[in-house]
Amino acid sequence: MLMARGFFNEWSMEVFDKVIQTQNAILNLRKKGKKIGFVPTMGALHEGHLQLVKQSLAGNDITVVSIFVNPIQFNNPQDLEKYPRTLEDDLEKLQQTGCDIVFTPTEKEMYPEGKPTEIIYDFGQLERVMEGKHRPGHFNGVAIVVKRLFEITLPHNAYFGEKDFQQLKIIQALVAQEQMDINIVPCPIVREPSGLAMSSRNERLSADERQKAAIISKLLQEIKDNYKKYSPKEWGQRFIQKINAVSPFKAEYLTFADANTLQPVNDWNDAEQVRAFASVYCNDVRLIDNMEIK
Ligand code: PAF
Repeated sequence: MLMARGFFNEWSMEVFDKVIQTQNAILNLRKKGKKIGFVPTMGALHEGHLQLVKQSLAGNDITVVSIFVNPIQFNNPQDLEKYPRTLEDDLEKLQQTGCDIVFTPTEKEMYPEGKPTEIIYDFGQLERVMEGKHRPGHFNGVAIVVKRLFEITLPHNAYFGEKDFQQLKIIQALVAQEQMDINIVPCPIVREPSGLAMSSRNERLSADERQKAAIISKLLQEIKDNYKKYSPKEWGQRFIQKINAVSPFKAEYLTFADANTLQPVNDWNDAEQVRAFASVYCNDVRLIDNMEIK
């Protein structure tokens, strides 16, 4: 077994599956004045996740990672069923990286009274577009689990990747809405050498599909480099046409949006900072990516 930095003794990483154990351990550390960094994940960890962990290690005394495939944020049951689960591998990676505490709850532990089914959050226009529009209930499920995870792990800082840029905005809105004193730290997208944004769902692609999927980021980069050449609408049409020409890929959307409000822009002058957001299916695997355009 590989050794890692730990807080109970010099060489251990603690793995808890109970809420109370986790909360108590972290409360004790907070009482000792330790700064807590938190990285929520659904496992199937890749370099993108490990970069979040490294950023937390650099900015905090203790780094906590959660691994929980949250059923209530999946609007597609098959996507939930096929979501990669690689716990042993994940723990090994976290230990090597130097994580201090891992929280790996069961569904019953997270939702003792049964899975919440009600829509309790309203993030307004932020959730009426893109992922919110195409995945009904998704952000409500994300917000419910993240709020619960924050209450368990009591972090000073929490780390979220810009790969899920809209999720990041929703979490910032959640923390404001709930008046939680947690600093949300955005972290840049980590890409494979081909340019493909790292994602646990990439594991479900064949080697050939994974290589072809690099077209998504290549097209986004082409738009970024030449955005003034066409209007947002024209770029949208070109993107969809080019993606759909590569079998078995099918574009779901390409949206240009104000990077702050996430509201779509029709003209490059509509917002000071514009980002492109894409969703593309490769058979039943849904890939998302985004890039700053201006
Ligand atoms: O980004 C994810 O992996 C999930 O949405 C999160 C934040 C861990 C909540 O389940």
